[in-house]
Amino acid sequence: MKVTLAKELKQKPDFTKLGFGKYFTDHMLIMRYDAANGGWQESEIVPYGSFNMDPASCVLHYGQGIFEGLKAYKDGNGNITMFRPRDNFNRMNRSAKRLCMPEIDVERAVKELEELIKIEKEWIPTAPGTSLYIRPFMIADEAFLGVHPSKKYIFAIILSPVGSYYANGLAPVKIYVEDTLTRASLGGTGEAKCLGNYAASLLGAEKAKQMGYEQVLWLDAETKKYIEEVGAMNMFFVIDGTVVTPMLDGSILPGITRDSAIKVLKKNGYKVEERHVGVDEVIDALKNGKLDEAFGTGTAAVISPVGTIGYKDEVYTINDNKICKISLWLYEQITGIQTQKIEDSFDWVYHFSK
Ligand code: PLP
Ligand code: COI
Repeated sequence: MKVTLAKELKQKPDFTKLGFGKYFTDHMLIMRYDAANGGWQESEIVPYGSFNMDPASCVLHYGQGIFEGLKAYKDGNGNITMFRPRDNFNRMNRSAKRLCMPEIDVERAVKELEELIKIEKEWIPTAPGTSLYIRPFMIADEAFLGVHPSKKYIFAIILSPVGSYYANGLAPVKIYVEDTLTRASLGGTGEAKCLGNYAASLLGAEKAKQMGYEQVLWLDAETKKYIEEVGAMNMFFVIDGTVVTPMLDGSILPGITRDSAIKVLKKNGYKVEERHVGVDEVIDALKNGKLDEAFGTGTAAVISPVGTIGYKDEVYTINDNKICKISLWLYEQITGIQTQKIEDSFDWVYHFSK
């Protein structure tokens, strides 16, 4: 891999006021693909900067693009780790297949990402709740206007030191159940992490924001009866002591934090059901005092308790808008494993070589 270091390094931001996704490190990784020239070329680490793209590049017109999100952590002794990186690159390959894009070599991607992060190790924040967010993405950049899969691609990884995704940290979020617009449907691209899914979610998110909510809770496209997921996280509900979460039926993202949460909960004796979760079931449980907790899971969002649900013209509050027991316990378990404070009995943590 060729490495070209930046001549001047950027001034680092105040690591106590990072927010999410606002600052980018000094370098990035780029690998180009050309079907006519042997596929993937050698990757390069280069100074962070703009791409030079043809205005006819097909990602700009037809949205042939996918991305991932994962995190790296650094402990007090300078040991660097990542959380389940192979799962992210495997999911990226599944997204690539759905969008007719070329797959990448997972082991090579993980190794090269490790090299990039080692160069950027001073950018990894260490305070609780902070990490280095890793954004791999792939875009189609052949220049043409016909609708067909591109023969050229750019795969790149950029890095961003982050704090919490939501402005108020672990404070319970307000979500609005959107029962008109939809984000994804069966047979569509809902389970792929592709650009169009996020573009399709923006109008609903703006509508929710105007009503004072932070996120949208999407329902299934066909019947609008079943809960799917929130814009950037999978959803869990604790109903009468049982943890329930929508099953992976093809229209929601198979979240890696979701999978981790299910495994940690089950290992600790919680009953977890992956199944259709009716919006009426959740509202009925709320009305009958049986909805113990609601929370979302995601790389950016980690474990985010939900304190308010708006549905039709009603506003429902969960546990007086206070963080609940299982959400807090799970947050501590997942972040504890991620930052090596709790033993990683699942072999999820990737350790960097010295
Ligand atoms: N659902 C959507 C739509 C997302 O964008 C994300 C974030 O990646 C998630 C769920 C959570 O997935 P993960 O836990 O793998 O980050
Ligand atoms: C992540 O959690 O990694 C995501 O991709 C969410 C993102 C859309 C902000």
